[in-house]
Amino acid sequence: MFAALGILILISTSCYGLDNGLAKTPPMGWLSWERFRCNTDCVNDPENCISEKLFQTMTDLVVADGYASAGYEFINIDDCWLEKHRSHDGKLLADRQRFPNGIKALSDYIHSRGLKFGIYEDYGNFTCAGYPGIIGYEQEDAFQFAEWNVDYVKLDGCYSLPLEMDLGYSTFGKLLNSTGKPMVYSCSWPVYQIYAGIQPNFSAVKTYCNLWRNYDDIQDSWTSVENIIDYYGNNQDLIAPNAGPGHWNDPDMLIIGNFGLSYEQAKTQFAIWSILAAPLLMSVDLRTIRPQFKRILQNRKIIAVDQDPLGIQGRRIYKHKGIEIWSKPIGPLYENFYSYAIAFINRRSDGTPSDISVTLKELGLINFNGYRVEDLYENVDYGVLYPNTKIKVKVNPSGVVMLKGEVQFPN
Ligand code: GLA
Repeated sequence: MFAALGILILISTSCYGLDNGLAKTPPMGWLSWERFRCNTDCVNDPENCISEKLFQTMTDLVVADGYASAGYEFINIDDCWLEKHRSHDGKLLADRQRFPNGIKALSDYIHSRGLKFGIYEDYGNFTCAGYPGIIGYEQEDAFQFAEWNVDYVKLDGCYSLPLEMDLGYSTFGKLLNSTGKPMVYSCSWPVYQIYAGIQPNFSAVKTYCNLWRNYDDIQDSWTSVENIIDYYGNNQDLIAPNAGPGHWNDPDMLIIGNFGLSYEQAKTQFAIWSILAAPLLMSVDLRTIRPQFKRILQNRKIIAVDQDPLGIQGRRIYKHKGIEIWSKPIGPLYENFYSYAIAFINRRSDGTPSDISVTLKELGLINFNGYRVEDLYENVDYGVLYPNTKIKVKVNPSGVVMLKGEVQFPN
C-alpha cells in the first residue's frame, strides 16, 4: 500500500508542469529584435550591431532613464548572438568579435545594475537567422544557460517540425527547471503549429511556458500593430482564457518610439497591450527615443493595468464602423464586481476625432455603488459615476482614450 502511494506521488510530481513560480505578472523589459534585428556589422555600424556594447548601453539607459523604476527589468538578447558553430565539445559560443568578454560577463554586468538577463535560442537545428539551434544539445544548453545565470529564455521554433513541438518544448521546459536556476520560459510553440494548420494544445502550452507567441512577428508599422490587434480580438475566445499569473499570451514587442507609429498610434499600442495583459518588451533605441514616447512607455497607471495581479486578459467588447471598445477586469473587487480598464480605439482615418457615447452599464460596469472613473493618459479624474451615467469620449484617428473605473464600496 505504502509502496503504491510512493509510486503515485512520483507520477504526479513528474507530470506536474513548469511551476517555476515566475512571471506572476507579464514580464517587462527590453528586447533587441524588432529594432536592431540581425545587424552583425560591427565594423561599419559599431553603435547598432548586436554586441555586448549594445546590451550594456541599453542596460545603463533602462536604469538611468527611469524605465527600471517603472517596472522594466529584463535585458534580453534576441537572435544573432552566436558563433556559426558550436565549440569542438558542443558548447554554444557567443560571437567572439561582438561579445569579446563572453555571455557570463554580460550577464554579470546586467545583474550588477540590478536587472535581469534574457537569452534567445531555437528548438530546431538552427535559429531563424541560421545560428546553431538546441536540437541534440537540449540538456547541455539548459545547464549552460543556468551557468550563465540566465533569467529568461526565448525559445524560437525555426528549422523544427511543428508536430514534434509538444514533446520538444515541454521537455526543454522541464530541463530548464531541472537546473534549479529559475528561468522565465518564452515559447514560440503555438505560432509555428498554427502556421502548420495544427491546433495547439493550449493546456500543455500554459503548463510548460510562462509566455508564448500566437501570431506574426511585429514590424515597424501601424498596419502590423492593427493586424495583431485584429488577431487577438478575432480569436479572443480561444486565446484569452489561457492567460493568467505565470502564463501569458505574447502579442510581441512594443515598437513605441521607433519610425513607424505616430504618437496616437503608439498610445494605442500601449493601451491595447496592457488590456491584453501582454509582456511589455520594448524594442527601441533608448539613446534617441523622443520624450513623448518615453512618457508613454513609463505611464505607470497603464503599466499597473498590464501588471494587475489578477492577470485577466481583456477582450474586445464592441466593434462597429472602425470604433472598438476593449475592456479588462482588474482589481480591486467589491464582492463579485470587478474594476475595469477600458480602451476606446478609433480605427477610422477620417481626419477628425470620433465621439463615442456609452453608459457605464453598457460597458459592463453595473455595480450600484458606482465607479471612480479616471482617464489614464490625460490624468483627469471624473469622480464617482453610476451604471446609468452616460460618458462621452472623443477619440483621435488611430488613437485611444483609456479609462479606469474603480468599483466603489458601500459607505
Ligand atoms: C522569429 C521570431 C522573432 C525573432 C526572429 C529572430 O521570426 O518570431 O521574434 O526572434 O525569429 O531571427
